[in-house]
Amino acid sequence: MAAIHVLVVFLSWTSLSTMVKCEHDQDNAYAQQILTSAQKENNWLVSIRRKIHQYPELGFQEHNTSALIRSELDKLGISYTYPVAKTGIVAQIGSGSPPIIAIRADMDALSLQELVEWEYKSKIDGRMHACGHDAHTTMLLGAAKLLNQRKDKLKGTVRLLFQPAEEGARGASQMIKEGVLQDVEAIFGVHIDDTTSTGAIASIPGPFTAAACIFEAKIVGVGGHAALPHQTVDPLLATSLTILALQQLVSREVDPLHSQVLSVTYVHGGGAFNVIPSYVKFGGTLRSQTTESMYHFKQRLKEVIEGQASVHRCKAYVDFKEEEYTQYPSVINDKDLHLHVERVGRLLLGPDNVHEAKRVMAGEDFAFYQEVIPGMYYSIGIRNEKIGSIHTPHSPFFFLDEEVLSIGAALHTAVAELYLNKLTIK
Ligand code: NI
Repeated sequence: MAAIHVLVVFLSWTSLSTMVKCEHDQDNAYAQQILTSAQKENNWLVSIRRKIHQYPELGFQEHNTSALIRSELDKLGISYTYPVAKTGIVAQIGSGSPPIIAIRADMDALSLQELVEWEYKSKIDGRMHACGHDAHTTMLLGAAKLLNQRKDKLKGTVRLLFQPAEEGARGASQMIKEGVLQDVEAIFGVHIDDTTSTGAIASIPGPFTAAACIFEAKIVGVGGHAALPHQTVDPLLATSLTILALQQLVSREVDPLHSQVLSVTYVHGGGAFNVIPSYVKFGGTLRSQTTESMYHFKQRLKEVIEGQASVHRCKAYVDFKEEEYTQYPSVINDKDLHLHVERVGRLLLGPDNVHEAKRVMAGEDFAFYQEVIPGMYYSIGIRNEKIGSIHTPHSPFFFLDEEVLSIGAALHTAVAELYLNKLTIK
């Protein structure tokens, strides 16, 4: 009996290990297939990215970028809806029925002069793709091509969102209003990252980017001759002391373990040596790790500005410019989606190339999608010291390691296809 028992245990153990090995081989073969297909598209991806890079367009004005994407989708025979949120495009690949998941890329550039001297630098003065959105758009187009090659294997539908106006103009909100999340179960997005090496990703569950908003204050006094200050009410002095008082908000009122930032970034007032102006304007930004704590932060900012102005006999008006610059919520990553991205990352890039992301105080409008459905936003590395892709986004020296394009296209494809498989197995 004992011998038979041992034999049964041995047989079931060997068949189990064969099964595991078999699954492991299948996974490796799948990863290899996706990476090879993406690599084959490298020249095409690089040429698309360079076209977008040379002609950067600001939020809601991405007409040529959008036309380029549409013409490529047409060539691939992929159906799409346009316009969505003015210049946005929504393409669909797969069965056309649920489950539906989405991947989003942003298309807009920044008002910034490119200072990198290279053949494909921005041809538009004062505008630059310095945040990698040209790469995001290209990687999503790459995923469109790869997913389309595998459309018969997809166990559901992948919706691709080419979104306008991420930089401050909340393009994501507009896309949501126009129904892009209808029936979508989960959404994925990626941002290039100069602190992570090319070939690696970084991901974190829970809070990732900060809630962000802007403010502008106007402090009004009574202007007059600079030699007769007693006959004026000086708004410049009031402004100076107000800015100093604001710096005590984070240091004295916020839990040191909770991250918040208050930066005053401009002051405009006066223009003559001998005139005290009648008013001064200043403004800046507030950042907070969570969306909830932002409401109290804004309230205190307003109280401090109004209180300080009143101490100095001035009047203050605080404007959060909600209409133009709605507050960005913080990106909160879904735990299960994070685990899925990590798993796919390890499969495609190897276990050493999946890192834990650091939280950042930058804002990101992907957070709007996550207010509606579970979402996952992660970083994809572009750091390569040999070619100088070491600068932070929004720097005029920002430079992209274009190797990321095929890696990103492969990742999007595998993240989407394998997540649909997972949903179907459930
Ligand atoms: Ni960006």
